[in-house]
Amino acid sequence: MNPADYDAWYATPRGRWIGNTEYALAMRGLAARPGSTLLDVGCGTGWFTRRAAADGLLATGLDRDPRALDFAHSHGGAACGWAEGDATALPFGDASFDHVMSIAALCFVEDEPRAVAEIVRVARRSFAIGWLNRASLLYRQKGRAGGSGTYRGARWHTAGELRAFFAGLPVRALRVRSAVFLPSGTALARRLEAAIPDALPWGGMLIVSGLKT
Ligand SMILES: C[S@@+](CC[C@H](N)C(=O)[O-])C[C@H]1O[C@@H](n2cnc3c(N)ncnc32)[C@H](O)[C@@H]1O
Repeated sequence: MNPADYDAWYATPRGRWIGNTEYALAMRGLAARPGSTLLDVGCGTGWFTRRAAADGLLATGLDRDPRALDFAHSHGGAACGWAEGDATALPFGDASFDHVMSIAALCFVEDEPRAVAEIVRVARRSFAIGWLNRASLLYRQKGRAGGSGTYRGARWHTAGELRAFFAGLPVRALRVRSAVFLPSGTALARRLEAAIPDALPWGGMLIVSGLKT
């Protein structure tokens, strides 16, 4: 999918709801304050990076796809920094950013444990990483048989599999939250979403957050 079409999905009512719901969940895990630095790994067209910058964070988006980065930069991304690079070998020193987030990107990275270790390495305070959840309604709709649309080729995990990625890393207060329980995004789905605790691990997006030790 070309970057313009991908980003346009976030302007649809359902896309905006899913984006904002996932962003809010990531921010809950990061506990980031305006003025702190944030790296968004696998930023794609930069919707989440721009969203964080709008909240006053000094945000940098990193992706390996130059076309996505060009789009990100030229569509309201002047307030952010942009970097081309690989999630498994981040071109930054240890503890370079107060916070690091990544949404629906590591599920496309071949060596996920290495990318997780890299995110933890460059984080100074906290991180929040979002993955697609195999134990979700979204998986039943979009993930089976190799996946459809933008989900094609993605790996889908359970909360237990994700926790295992962090074994042996310098982290504490690891927490798994989930959101987007009813992916239709109808008015009823949104009302129900607000009533479902994010500790229940059946939302389409699972976000693992934690603090750096
Ligand atoms: C589904 S998109 C998600 C983009 C954005 N985070 C969002 O949620 O809108 C996945 C992104 O991960 C990027 N990606 C995949 N493997 C990568 C890698 N090894 N290093 C950096 N980016 C990668 C892709 O280029 C793509 O932009």
